[in-house]
Amino acid sequence: MTQPRSFGHLLLACFLATSLLSPRAASAEAAPTLRKRADAHGLLIGSAVSLGSWDERRGEELSPLRDSPRYRRHLRKQFNVVTPENVMKWDQLRPGMDTFDFSLADELVEFAEAHGQSVHGHTLLWFLALPDWVTEREWTQAEQRRLAKKHIRRVAGRYAGRIHSWDVINEAVDDTSGRLRDTMWTPGRSDRIIRRAFRWARKADPNAILCYNDYNHADMEGWQRTKSNAVYELVRTLVRDGVPIDCVGFQFHLDHNFRQTAVAENFRRYADLGLQVQVTELDVRLPEPITQADLNAQASIYREVADLCLDAPNCTSLIMWGFTDRYSWVPWFFDGWDAATIMTRGYKKKPAFWALMDALE
Ligand code: XIL
Repeated sequence: MTQPRSFGHLLLACFLATSLLSPRAASAEAAPTLRKRADAHGLLIGSAVSLGSWDERRGEELSPLRDSPRYRRHLRKQFNVVTPENVMKWDQLRPGMDTFDFSLADELVEFAEAHGQSVHGHTLLWFLALPDWVTEREWTQAEQRRLAKKHIRRVAGRYAGRIHSWDVINEAVDDTSGRLRDTMWTPGRSDRIIRRAFRWARKADPNAILCYNDYNHADMEGWQRTKSNAVYELVRTLVRDGVPIDCVGFQFHLDHNFRQTAVAENFRRYADLGLQVQVTELDVRLPEPITQADLNAQASIYREVADLCLDAPNCTSLIMWGFTDRYSWVPWFFDGWDAATIMTRGYKKKPAFWALMDALE
């Protein structure tokens, strides 16, 4: 009795394996993804990765890269580049003046390497996300320079050859005045550390593409005009003086009212300087309650930004600031806003996902 029954089971298993499971598995493998389509364009497409992020709203630490197989599966399937949302910032890497903690950053880089993904490093010098030991005291300009140099040598040096591009400087230009901010890395609005930072980074990792990254400077016309021109002037003088900068990053934290007039022209003026541009932190937040009309408007905006990048020969990378609403920074940073990414909290693909797929077709 047992013999025929197990034989029957075997037959059934063979039938399932050959007729049902393998064709399904094969078609799942063959299913188009953002990654495959972007590969065909030679474009990097990616997402910020959440690891050890503190979620203010839930009052808990989130590490989906470690804890969620679902998160990992989508991340490796859909993207050919990843960037750390937080784990390469000073407050994560620098527990003390003489100490470095690379454990989480290593985890992210190792994930990327295991799945054939590039890493966009974010960020070597930013005036925010500094540890208390930095913000709690006054520093002389010479000390600030020494701190920056040591950090860049150690961090860019540790990952040398494993980072595709680095945000060397993040958000140095003031929003309204167009001047440099007066902060830790631009004390007295001096650009001295900025200039040196690119040189230190080049020396530590000669193959990494070195970027200046900022927000609200994409559009040369309209309300972003002042900051757009200020960033351009800063970058132009760096290039003129032989500072080793290769690229300008545009964050693109947008909302459903995004209108642009002269972003393509802006990308072009950087091409004229011989520089790449990258979309580094795209998301499109919607006001609560979320409506279908807003989701459609959001899809059009994702598409518009993808088209801007695809149409610009010097645009090399399109990175989103998270890919699922489940771990997006938006709901806790922008009160009353949500749903900024291309997948729902349950990883359902939103119209924005399909709009990107269409753009990349
Ligand atoms: C944000 C992260 O998403 C949050 O988790 C963190 O608490 C604060 O920083 N511009 C940047 C990013 O360059 O580093 C910021 O990331 C979002 C704005």
